[in-house]
Amino acid sequence: MIGIFDSGIGGLTVVRSIMEQLSGYDILYFGDTARTPYGSKSPETVIRYALENTDFLMNQGAKIIVMACNTASSVAAERVSAEFDVPIFEVITPAVDMSLQTSRKFNIGVIGTRATIKSGIYEKKIKAINPDAKVYSAACPLLVPLVEEGWMQKPETVMIIKKYLHPLKVRQIDTLILGCTHYPLLKKTIQRKIGKRVSVIDSSIAVAAKIKDFLAGHIEVDNLLSRNGKFRLFVSDITDQFEKTAKTTLKRNVHLEQIML
Ligand code: DGL
Repeated sequence: MIGIFDSGIGGLTVVRSIMEQLSGYDILYFGDTARTPYGSKSPETVIRYALENTDFLMNQGAKIIVMACNTASSVAAERVSAEFDVPIFEVITPAVDMSLQTSRKFNIGVIGTRATIKSGIYEKKIKAINPDAKVYSAACPLLVPLVEEGWMQKPETVMIIKKYLHPLKVRQIDTLILGCTHYPLLKKTIQRKIGKRVSVIDSSIAVAAKIKDFLAGHIEVDNLLSRNGKFRLFVSDITDQFEKTAKTTLKRNVHLEQIML
């Protein structure tokens, strides 16, 4: 099974992309709704959560792990990869690669949680490949709680997005990385506010493509993954809103299983 985790609802955008690109693979998802958001926590705390989440998913039978959270990917990917002997996928590198393939002027904007932006990981990774690239980042701490609340279409949310994007817009970025897996759920508004000439990079699509490529080249890992179209959805706290957003994001009925870590 493919084990995927996030602090909450955001990682379901990765599940959606994996279901589209790797149809039929069995998936275990854990949304850490009791401890969300991760983006305002310290790196030490996020590392501890990421280790616990990975351990839980592996005990449920996951054979590969997808850290479907930019915050966890930015501060905990190395620790998780060092502690567990299975392929671990983070969402940052695939988004960086996709942005560099897409951008023409290499004027790249990144939006994410406070922790992700503070880590500077996008800038480091982009500049390691293209030292001439210009990277402009903006932390958008209000967006995760708004998505968790289901406020995707509210005028207040649109206004906040416009305000967050303004500094990037004046820099005339040509590519914008959605550096948080919650943000694809706001993609239409983000695209509208940043302008149609800007390519918006969705890390959920990028990571699913990367996993597909990896499995094509690692048959021994691919053979470990069952393919009965099963999907189990674990959360650390059950909320009505999670169920509602999960149903609309995945366009299927979901059954939430509550667990305690
Ligand atoms: N989806 C997580 C991310 O990609 C959200 C982090 C949070 O819980 O603040 O960063």
